[in-house]
Amino acid sequence: MHEIGGNTRVLGVIGNPVRHTMSPKIHNFLTERLGQDMVYLPFEVHGDVIQAVGGAYELGIVGMNVTVPYKSAVMEAVSETDAEACRIGAVNTLVRTDTGYKGYNTDVIGLRRELQEAGVTLAGEQVVILGAGGAARATAMMCAADGVSTLCILNRNREKAEELAAAVRACMLQKDTASGMYIQALGLEEYEQLQGKEHIVFQCTSVGLSPWEDEAVIEARTFYQKLKCAVDLIYTPRQTKFMKLAEHEGVRAMNGSKMLVYQAIASYELWNGMTIPEQIVNELLGYLTEEGLIG
Ligand code: ATR
Repeated sequence: MHEIGGNTRVLGVIGNPVRHTMSPKIHNFLTERLGQDMVYLPFEVHGDVIQAVGGAYELGIVGMNVTVPYKSAVMEAVSETDAEACRIGAVNTLVRTDTGYKGYNTDVIGLRRELQEAGVTLAGEQVVILGAGGAARATAMMCAADGVSTLCILNRNREKAEELAAAVRACMLQKDTASGMYIQALGLEEYEQLQGKEHIVFQCTSVGLSPWEDEAVIEARTFYQKLKCAVDLIYTPRQTKFMKLAEHEGVRAMNGSKMLVYQAIASYELWNGMTIPEQIVNELLGYLTEEGLIG
């Protein structure tokens, strides 16, 4: 590890819990490989996150990632918010400016890059989103921006699915884009109403996350038979029950590990005003695979 001195730039991730985070491994690998004088640390916030961000700014911290449960709350603490983060209603990256931190959302950048690499395009597709929380909202806004033909949001609490559908519609009206898109909100048990057999589904709930790895929000084979591609935003375990059920029906399935790596790369690029060369991205992926962190 490089020597830490008086000029070392300090960055980190705030959240609670953050002990399980893979982000320090990613950022410190990149720092080492790029020969930069920077260190990235986990900061578990137990008190008021707004005060924590204020304190971080006063301490000269150059940038931070924000994770559960602060991605929305932190929007109150920034001096400016990037337009996409504003639409999504969540910030996962803070970049220091002269007047405070500017908030960005690189989760969606990461997900888009993962899909692009896997050859999955969203324009004109029928998309299903499972869940209506923060991750689902970011995914829904991405789908609307990328011109899907139908968007069906299924959630345990149907009212929350309806609220999210209304937020996406309002956002489309504002932007005057994707006006032909059909949006529907359903309860999880209403999946039989899905028309067609070629859906791309994004699993955006916390169900299936270790240690609840034997669960999936929908387990019926008839649901998985309606899909052509299944994307779980969870990355631990590497193969979730949702992915197993999809693969059992011959449906292509992927997890969120590449999304995590690519959102980190996008944050690193924002903090350092650079584009990380493809070769270093591949080295990073190799390192994380070797460490058993992604796959
Ligand atoms: P995140 O920011 O990761 O999206 P969140 O905002 O807390 O987290 O959202 C969690 C999502 O997982 C919600 O859609 C939640 O459904 P409800 O809105 O009905 O609560 C969903 N979820 C969590 N536990 C669930 C369970 N046991 N069964 C079905 N859905 C569940």
